[in-house]
Amino acid sequence: MDNTGKYLLNYKGHNFISAIVNDIDFLENIEDFEIRDDDVFIITYPKSGTIWTQQILSLIYSEGHRNGTENLKTIDRVPFFEYNVHKVDFVKKPSPRLFASHLSYNLVPKGLTNKKAKIIYVYRNPKDVLISYFHFSNMVAIFETMNSIEELLEKFLDGKVVGGLWFDHIRGWYEHRHDFNILFMMYEEMKKDLRSSVLKISSFLEKELSEEDVEAIVKQATFENMKSDPKANSDSIISNDLGREKDERHFMRKGTVGDWKRHLTVEQNERFDKVFQRKMRDVPLKFIWDLN
Ligand code: A3P
Repeated sequence: MDNTGKYLLNYKGHNFISAIVNDIDFLENIEDFEIRDDDVFIITYPKSGTIWTQQILSLIYSEGHRNGTENLKTIDRVPFFEYNVHKVDFVKKPSPRLFASHLSYNLVPKGLTNKKAKIIYVYRNPKDVLISYFHFSNMVAIFETMNSIEELLEKFLDGKVVGGLWFDHIRGWYEHRHDFNILFMMYEEMKKDLRSSVLKISSFLEKELSEEDVEAIVKQATFENMKSDPKANSDSIISNDLGREKDERHFMRKGTVGDWKRHLTVEQNERFDKVFQRKMRDVPLKFIWDLN
């Protein structure tokens, strides 16, 4: 049975997680949401390194967890824009406001297209995204359970997943990049050289960091540290009511490059490649997936 419609809310062509869209009025008025010059948005397709970038961004802004914000979780320091689960009044929120979002380029507040504010767009090998999505969807009750990689592959290549079609998401943001003040970051590059990635992000944000700050950020943004720090990862999503089972699964699953090779069959991989080549042929974005 296809349960897709129960889990996804398709609104203006974008697939939202229906269980946590708590304010349809907000979605309807997103275009007019007032943007400030010092707002920062992390935009990703799901499972591409959102929480990682939230961690880096929040650390850059608090110079390594200081300034009395030590007890705030990363997901609350850089809250989701379209999934405002704590119903925070974003209009009253003091600057600088940091947000995370999975929105497509055509749904974000219009103020962003005046090159007001900054956007960090993080992308990842869609095959690894697929595998990460597969495991995650079987961990949380707000995602549709996937019985097999094959089942998810069909849906993924058809855009019937949270975030819609990966190819459209990345293409949309890339083709409209000149409308935005945007930095593209690749998960694989962050993985290869975290320190350079932190410096690249902080330079884009025009944030000067001391050598000690950079060290502190890099240390706290490693996979191992985030996995063991309950404030830095999203295990709470899994361990509370939204989780399916109370077992040893972690939001921070593997954090590696190329895990898809252990999961996709030769035939599935070839099918994926065909679609990738067809859809991404004329997108000159850098795609180097196997950096390690
Ligand atoms: P895996 O499931 O492949 O392990 P998102 O935050 O967009 O949902 O992405 C989650 C993915 O990013 C998971 O991938 C998670 O392990 C990975 N991730 C999170 N923090 C990371 C880090 N510090 N280093 C490497 N990967 C990280």
